[in-house]
Parts: sequence; structure tokens; C-alpha cells
Amino acid sequence: MKTFPSNKALFLSHVAQNSAFPIGLEVVKADNIYLYGADGQKYIDLISGIAVSTLGHNHPKIVAAVQTQAATHMHVMVYGEFVQSPQVLLAKAISDTLPDPLDNVFFVNSGSEAIEGAMKLAKRYTGRHELIACRQAYHGATQGALSLGSDESFRQGFMPLVPGISYIDFDDEHNLDNITDKFAAVIVETVQGEAGVRIASSSFFQKLRHRCNETGALLVLDEIQCGFGRTGTFWAFEQYGIVPDIIAAAKGMGGACPWGIYLVFRDHECLADQAGSGSYLHLWGASG
Ligand SMILES: Cc1ncc(COP(=O)(O)O)c(C=O)c1O
Repeated sequence: MKTFPSNKALFLSHVAQNSAFPIGLEVVKADNIYLYGADGQKYIDLISGIAVSTLGHNHPKIVAAVQTQAATHMHVMVYGEFVQSPQVLLAKAISDTLPDPLDNVFFVNSGSEAIEGAMKLAKRYTGRHELIACRQAYHGATQGALSLGSDESFRQGFMPLVPGISYIDFDDEHNLDNITDKFAAVIVETVQGEAGVRIASSSFFQKLRHRCNETGALLVLDEIQCGFGRTGTFWAFEQYGIVPDIIAAAKGMGGACPWGIYLVFRDHECLADQAGSGSYLHLWGASG
């Protein structure tokens, strides 16, 4: 059994930790469903980077695409100013998976950023500043995304977060009257992931869509964990017979590259506005 020198002590001294008890597995190689440790052991990866490596590790097509692009050009310009063909073709391919009228992809770098972008877009589009999310939701760790989560263990130490957030219970139709015309958007995971893979009824999602139409609140679906084919359809919302106003996606869409997107439709007058006035300026945006 071939073993490798350990960097564990350096890892513990120099890599800032998220957890008090990191797993600390030293990975020297990953392939398909397997991780190979510095200890010479082969492990079946049942986590896949938490819903990220949906096509397995080192998929030859992903590796080839990354190598080709790295050798062609990498980062060239900020804010989506240049036409970069791989990005354009990806946007078109993603648009082809979407029901009308969704047809525009805004590239970001993570799920949290996709949520931040969706929150800002909804506020600007509606001119309203309050948002509704579901209890037990997880939408990310940046301050805006974290504000949408109700779990105190994540929020502790960071208060006050973004104001104007109210909560309803996931899959509880009785709550829907709490959505009123003061809200810019209702932001919901189509399948609640962190809460334990909670699946709502079709009736809940159809009534939620209806209530958003009545009040003018945008329906934002977080498909960061459940989108990109994880539920049997490309998007989980397809199974509910509804079309959201904005979709946030990330994780599995990048094939292990740090990408996120939020999806809207071109006639959303705010999209053009947003691009022009740069309300979500950022450097990378899935460049290359
Ligand atoms: C449903 C959901 N939304 C948002 C996020 C945040 O994504 P990221 O960690 O890429 O910022 C996650 C990550 O676990 C998630 O599962």
C-alpha cells in the first residue's frame, strides 16, 4: 500500500478552520466515486462535496474542458463586458432547459452569491424591501443569504443581519396569507436540503405561485442543492407545474468548479437595469 507524507500538522496550523472537528482526511486523488487517502486507503465518497460533484470526481469530459479552457484563456475582463464563447454557449444550454419566459443567466461564483443577486434583483424590481423565507431553510452564509435562514446556530454572533425578513413554514398552506403586497419576494428551496430533504406537496407550490401572483411578490426558487438533475427532472420545480420568477443554482452545475447562477427572463425590465447600473458587480462571474 503506497502512502504519502502527511501535511496534517500544517493543515491544522495554517488553514483557517470552519469546524472545531475537521474530518481531516488527506486526499491525494479522487476518481469517480472514490477518494484516495495519503494513508493508502480507498474510500467511497458518499458526500460528493455536499451535492457538488454530481458527475463523480475527475469526470474525463470535465477535466478535458477545464484543461482546454485553461490553455486557451482564463480571466480576461470583469463584469461580463467581453463575449466569452464558452460562457455564452453555457448560458444558451442552460436557457434551453428552462420553461418560458426564463431565458437569461447571470453568472456568479457560489450559491450564496446567487441568492444575494436574487434578493437584490427582487428588491429593485418591485421597489419593495421586505422578503419572506421559510423556517428551517438554508440559503447560504453571506450576510444576506444568512438573514433568510431562521436557524439560530448559524446566525449567532452575526446579528443584526439584513432587516425586513419574515418567515413562513415550508409546505404549510395556512401560512400563505402572510404573503402580502409589502414583500418583494418569497424565497424558497424547492426541496429543503439542510432541513433533511423535506419535500412539499404540489398543492403548496401551486398555491404559493398563485399567492405571489396576487400580491406581486416574486417567487424565487433556490435550486442550489436540488437543481441540475438531482431529483429526476432537470429542475425540481418542473415536478410542481409552476414557473418561478427567479431561480438560484450552483453546486452541481459547476462540476466541481465554483460557479453559481441566477436565472431570470430578459423582459424583466430590471435585468437590463441591473446590468447597466451594476447592482451586482463582481470580478469573476464564471469567466472563461
Ligand atoms: C439550498 C442551498 N442554498 C444555498 C447554499 C449556499 O451555497 P454556497 O455554499 O455555494 O454559497 C447551499 C449550500 O449548501 C444550499 O444547500
